[in-house]
Amino acid sequence: MDNPFQVTKPVAPAEVIDRETESSQLAALAREGNNARLVAPRRYGKTSLLKRAQSDLEQSGWVTIYVDLLGIITLEDFAARIERAYTEALKGPVARWFTGLRRSLRPTLTVGGGPIPASASLEVAGRQREALLTRLALPARVFDKTGQRVHVVFDEFQELDNVEGQADAVVRSEIQHHGDAASYVFAGSHLRMMEMLFADRKRAFYGQTERVSLNPLDPEPLAGYIASRFEQTGKEIAPPALDAVLELVEGHPQRAMAAAHALWAATERTADIDQWETARGALMSGVDDDLKTSWVELNTAERKSLVAVARGEPPYQRIGGRAQGSAVTRALAGLEGRGIITRVEDRWHVVDPLLAEWVRSGRLSP
Ligand SMILES: Nc1ncnc2c1ncn2[C@@H]1O[C@H](COP(=O)(O)OP(=O)(O)OP(=O)(O)O)[C@@H](O)[C@H]1O
Ligand SMILES: [Mg+2]
Repeated sequence: MDNPFQVTKPVAPAEVIDRETESSQLAALAREGNNARLVAPRRYGKTSLLKRAQSDLEQSGWVTIYVDLLGIITLEDFAARIERAYTEALKGPVARWFTGLRRSLRPTLTVGGGPIPASASLEVAGRQREALLTRLALPARVFDKTGQRVHVVFDEFQELDNVEGQADAVVRSEIQHHGDAASYVFAGSHLRMMEMLFADRKRAFYGQTERVSLNPLDPEPLAGYIASRFEQTGKEIAPPALDAVLELVEGHPQRAMAAAHALWAATERTADIDQWETARGALMSGVDDDLKTSWVELNTAERKSLVAVARGEPPYQRIGGRAQGSAVTRALAGLEGRGIITRVEDRWHVVDPLLAEWVRSGRLSP
């Protein structure tokens, strides 16, 4: 029997738990012709939710396009990603129509390898921009052709910040003309960059989107999901073990599935506290390298602040009072910008419960 818990890929739309509100919110914004931005920490279930929302929209007649921008560095990459997304998403007659249309689009590839002379580089930039604009205009063409509205997701949208040529302004200049033909979701996990793109008056998308956020998963549906997966695969999870899982993961979606995955793997028939102890050890050593990497990227002030937040100590007090107030504020802002800590009501909270656990255990020292 295969392990029923998915931990590395987005979950299938039917498997998504506890995101009904967010999914309806995204669909409602689309129907109203509004654009949304979805900002949540890494591994919080953004992509799973987006696929779920798009699958619902498809049921009600929308064409949905999902563009992953992870790793793009040029306008040319951006244009190519969009084109590929249409090739993958379109089906039937509209796919045949698009196959023809593609041929008439200006090619995205405009130069061979090697350095470009300065005189030519402006022209190249202009052509790349043109190529991108024609691909950004595709929703309007699909709508004209089919009468179907188009829902476009740009996932990892913060990556636009690594692209030269004010890519966000290029996007806005085209999509603002789409009216009812298309609605957009811009999703990202890098809080600071997403803020820069959307909350800065000087940037193209200022005031153009409604924010949708993701909370931790509610313990009730989470417990139900984990227990039912054990049952469906001929195993059982005893309440104390289930409780221990919920206690450790604090509703973090990927960590919850990773803990359940480890527990299932450590269980012959019934998962109880003994199995959980084994699973917990395996889980922590599995994330060892990742956590170390996160840790070494922090400076000393950030490490100290993180320890204080993980232990629930007031970080200002811990680091040394008023004189160092601004250094602490900077450290906390740095941690928040990278999505390592977040505000929950009036308190700081470590996003990744395993990192928090790690830090509390004292295995890493500032
Ligand atoms: N609503 C959910 N129901 C069940 N599992 C979920 C849910 N959301 C997230 N997960 C779990 O979290 C993992 C990561 O989900 P997903 O890839 O959608 O997150 P993400 O925020 O897009 O991550 P990344 O920042 O890496 O792009 C999934 O493999 C799954 O284990
Ligand atoms: Mg994702």
